[in-house]
Amino acid sequence: MRQNSTDQRILGYLGRALSLELSAVQTYSTQARLVATWGLDGPAERLREEAHEELQHVERIIARMLALGAAPNGSQLRPALVGGDLLSLLQADYVFELELVGLYRDAARHGERIASRDDRVFFGALLAEEQAHARELIEWIAALEQPVEPPTRRRALR
Ligand SMILES: [Fe+2]
Ligand SMILES: [Fe+2]
Repeated sequence: MRQNSTDQRILGYLGRALSLELSAVQTYSTQARLVATWGLDGPAERLREEAHEELQHVERIIARMLALGAAPNGSQLRPALVGGDLLSLLQADYVFELELVGLYRDAARHGERIASRDDRVFFGALLAEEQAHARELIEWIAALEQPVEPPTRRRALR
């Protein structure tokens, strides 16, 4: 099924990306369920949305592999990142997102080196989205680490 003209390293990047993105779906789905059991409905919803975004990445990678004539072969699912509180989950997620950023940066650069515009654009778009995920996690972590503001004083009722 594989086409000879397809760069083997591109297929390698796609296979690693598929494994990592499937792992991300598993992690965010697990964390959404976990924090829901802690009664954190807002964070649970946000983590469910993350899982959905990562699933869309999975679908894009599978589509790309099929277009290149390669059978999707993600084979190294990581264990879900779990922890005892929301902050530690998000810190682990941030490290994981940085791994995806590194992978897509390398893949996009390789696409550029082999003068493959399609690969550069494909991986470049995923790179930008994972960079955004990492930024959002940093902001979320910073918000959690901020001291809680004292409640605004209520006007005395007469
Ligand atoms: Fe992703
Ligand atoms: Fe992500």
